[in-house]
Amino acid sequence: MTLKLGIIGTNWITKMFIEAAIATDQYELVAIYSRTEEKGQEFATNFAGDQAVWTDLDAFLQSGIDVVYIASPNSLHFEQAASAIKSGVNVIVEKSAFDNPEQYEKIHSLLQENPSVKLFEAARHIYQDNFKVIEEKIKQMDHISGATFVYEKYSSRFDDYLAGKNPNVLSREFSAGALADLGVYPLYAAIKLFGLPENQYYFATLLDNGADGRGTAILRYPNFDVTLIFGKSTNSYELSEVHGRRDTIVIDNIAELGEVKYDDGQGNLTVISQPAPKNPMVQEAMFFANGLQDNLTTNEYEEAAILSQKVNLVLTKLRQSAGIKFPSDQEY
Ligand SMILES: NC(=O)c1ccc[n+]([C@@H]2O[C@H](COP(=O)([O-])OP(=O)(O)OC[C@H]3O[C@@H](n4cnc5c(N)ncnc54)[C@H](OP(=O)(O)O)[C@@H]3O)[C@@H](O)[C@H]2O)c1
Repeated sequence: MTLKLGIIGTNWITKMFIEAAIATDQYELVAIYSRTEEKGQEFATNFAGDQAVWTDLDAFLQSGIDVVYIASPNSLHFEQAASAIKSGVNVIVEKSAFDNPEQYEKIHSLLQENPSVKLFEAARHIYQDNFKVIEEKIKQMDHISGATFVYEKYSSRFDDYLAGKNPNVLSREFSAGALADLGVYPLYAAIKLFGLPENQYYFATLLDNGADGRGTAILRYPNFDVTLIFGKSTNSYELSEVHGRRDTIVIDNIAELGEVKYDDGQGNLTVISQPAPKNPMVQEAMFFANGLQDNLTTNEYEEAAILSQKVNLVLTKLRQSAGIKFPSDQEY
């Protein structure tokens, strides 16, 4: 049975997710939500089939969809996901899923009240085969001395910021900024690979509007540190690395995972990755479909949910350590 998919958000990332979802043969796009009929209809022309376009969120959620993919600005995720859960619709929500642990607790309670509904955070890289390659290699290493994960990509929206505009993705009003947008990739990787840190600090370079344009976060584990370097106001071509004692895992990019190598410290450097998929969202789309069709073990689903909640907790603590507040922080 294919899953009836509805989507919120009509930017390029939604198009990419729909293409990935269709490529799995597990989903059928049936409904598009947009704030305007024109934009919704224009977005629909990207796809074959006959999708209904909705501008009323409740009507969209009650139109018979099995699952909604939410790719709106971060600050809208909470209300939209809560409405979906109350309507009995499963949720795939883009990273960063929710603003703070208080929002997460409310979502958790709603899921308990609606036990047939499942929720996934779309952190695409951790579902990729090359991420699993890194996990397996770490298990084989005798010792971990630390890691550095880098993801810095100049955003075209930074041009808008420099032109005096306040683009969503660089605005606290929309629960965005470098950490919530790109920093979440290295953070997800660190928590998936090493668990919750004992302590965490974020040294942010703030923009005039109080959001972070780039920064460095340090996660302190009992025996090592993990450094995360990320930003939207610069490009970086530095590698990401996991350090053993002499040996090192060398990753071209912790979010894109194009190539992973293992250097044994004794003169042997081996490529251990597979060619990266053309569409980096196919593997997550397949994982979510398996979850929604009850093909995952309870453990696999719960592990993904717990990881998402841990990332949310550390994201919030990092943000607090840099003095960055989102509007929803004041609501609790
Ligand atoms: N996984 C990935 O690789 C990846 C990549 C990029 C982004 N993302 C995530 O995807 C989400 C969306 O990011 P984005 O950069 O696409 O955001 P965006 O362009 O700011 O907004 C996405 C969509 O939300 C709607 N929207 C925009 N501004 C709004 C507002 N003020 N009020 C209500 N709706 C509004 C628009 O759809 P309508 O005009 O049709 O309503 C728009 O197409 C974020 O959570 C981001 O972190 C993930």
